[in-house]
Amino acid sequence: MMLSKQEFERFSEIVYRHLGIKMPGGKRTMLSARVHKRLRALEMETFQEYADFLFSPEGQQAELAHLYDVVTTNKTDFFREPGHFTYLTDAVLPALTERRAALRFWSAGCSSGEEPYTLAMVLSHYRETQRDIRFDILATDISRKALDLARRAVYREEQIVPVPAPFRKKYLLRSRDRSARLTRIAPEIRRCVTFGRLNFMDEDFGIRHPMDVIFCRNVIIYFDKWTQEELIRKFCRHLLPGGFLFLGHSESLHGIDLPLTQVAPTIYRKVAEE
Ligand SMILES: C[S@@+](CC[C@H](N)C(=O)[O-])C[C@H]1O[C@@H](n2cnc3c(N)ncnc32)[C@H](O)[C@@H]1O
Repeated sequence: MMLSKQEFERFSEIVYRHLGIKMPGGKRTMLSARVHKRLRALEMETFQEYADFLFSPEGQQAELAHLYDVVTTNKTDFFREPGHFTYLTDAVLPALTERRAALRFWSAGCSSGEEPYTLAMVLSHYRETQRDIRFDILATDISRKALDLARRAVYREEQIVPVPAPFRKKYLLRSRDRSARLTRIAPEIRRCVTFGRLNFMDEDFGIRHPMDVIFCRNVIIYFDKWTQEELIRKFCRHLLPGGFLFLGHSESLHGIDLPLTQVAPTIYRKVAEE
């Protein structure tokens, strides 16, 4: 079932306005399939019927969050782009812990939790083997479904393959029923992470403490240049001078005038005098 051109424009406009996610014409098949999931869930027959509901006062209350769940791309992995975690322990933590012993991290666009839990494992390991640091990790996403999975912290065995063996042993708990092939993040790692729902399009993020490190990886790729620039400016306001911003492998701030200097591919540092 395919959205008509007009229906596609209407839905892609709402997705752009609410989430900043751009949906060019080439995404019509993808958006149709994703919105269709909601039609099925609501036992509706046509996109028109769904649109009427979505744009009604009741739909605006009850349905928008479900629409966000289906239109966002939540692909993620433990230890995704592992070079970032090497850079974190080799360069970022030594530089930051020279000044302070308590650090704040933000996994912005955390999806189902693999990124903030990776951070929590890497930081805990650093604390046990290198230096006694204190840290907390804020992890936010717009998708309620992704956040539910993140809070549950249960993953299938194939999802934990990228986690190095010593980390698996220390920080992951295998289900007693081995045939279930499930693993849960250990409580001491779960406790390092606070999850919250946050839309990057909001004017005020409600975050009152500045961050030492922001991971916002594989998120801005879905935004247009203008939205990317606005968002990165907001991140700069939430970053301490000398703090670090990590982006995804195919994301760059090229041509955007910001108080950031590039310190490694896709890793930026906020200039100290800002
Ligand atoms: C592809 S995942 C990236 C997950 C993780 N950072 C990584 O690199 O593996 C992108 C995430 O950004 C979230 N996202 C997209 N638009 C958003 C918005 N406007 N506000 C907050 N989160 C958003 C999605 O829900 C999704 O979970």
